[in-house]
Amino acid sequence: MDLQRIAEEIVSALEPRLGEGKVADYIPELARVDPKQFGIAITTVDGQTYKAGHADTAFSIQSISKVFMLTLALGKAGESIWKRVGREPSGSSFNSIVQLEHEHGIPRNPFINAGAIVVTDMVLAGHAPREAIGEYLRFMRYLADDETLSIDEKVAQSEQRTGYRNFALANFMRGFGNLDHPVEHTLGVYFHQCALALSCVQLSHAGLFLANRGTNPLTGFSVVSPKRARRINALMLMCGHYDGSGDFAYQVGLPGKSGVGGGILAVAPGKASIAVWSPGLNKVGNSALGSAALEMLATRTGWSVF
Ligand code: DON
Repeated sequence: MDLQRIAEEIVSALEPRLGEGKVADYIPELARVDPKQFGIAITTVDGQTYKAGHADTAFSIQSISKVFMLTLALGKAGESIWKRVGREPSGSSFNSIVQLEHEHGIPRNPFINAGAIVVTDMVLAGHAPREAIGEYLRFMRYLADDETLSIDEKVAQSEQRTGYRNFALANFMRGFGNLDHPVEHTLGVYFHQCALALSCVQLSHAGLFLANRGTNPLTGFSVVSPKRARRINALMLMCGHYDGSGDFAYQVGLPGKSGVGGGILAVAPGKASIAVWSPGLNKVGNSALGSAALEMLATRTGWSVF
């Protein structure tokens, strides 16, 4: 299979649609990004990377960071994390608060904002926010095997100033006793993890352990056990696109995690890690062209898990 050609054909097919969707503007700094961009990188488990379009342009990974923070939290606290966050699809938007009231401040899953905030609180584990941010950044550099990765401080500050809904979610959960740290500390880490800037190539490297039974084939480092990799992939399939998760599973058939920066990380178990990016979002907050690209890729490669 000629993956380089497939990547280039996807870029050509999407060229006329560049700019489709709506760029996230509730984080003012994200609204400044040029919407007419698209990139794709495919890194296979034998260590080859195929890329096309704006595959080396760094973008804000936003909610894709939730996969990596979940991996860190599971490493620290193991299966006990499930006492504080569920594993079910939410059927609600990524920043919804409604379910929290009926379910005692326990968010449905680790990928909606409420769930991710609880996961960040677990990673914080009594440390200063700066230490938790440092731990996350070191982990991401180790996963991507790239010391140059950095957090876009402007994006983090922009969300810190305007993240009213996240403050509401965090305060609500703290009221239920499901946050151990001051809201400002947990959210300070959360806004920074979301503001990590990665290119499609870097993101496809960082996610590769999930496609290769928990071991990064680029470095040989064992990140998680095969069982844990399988479970993280299961959560991505069921919950990675919020109330668009069913549609993504139907159209693409791969575990995936989206972010409002317009990125999507998809995992083809045993085959490859794929990162796509285009800033315009569909109605449920997932990259419009990114989703279309992954549908084309799944059709051309036959990589759907079904
Ligand atoms: O908390 C937020 O609203 C953002 N930092 C992340 C949300 C996000 O990426 C949702 N994804 N599609």
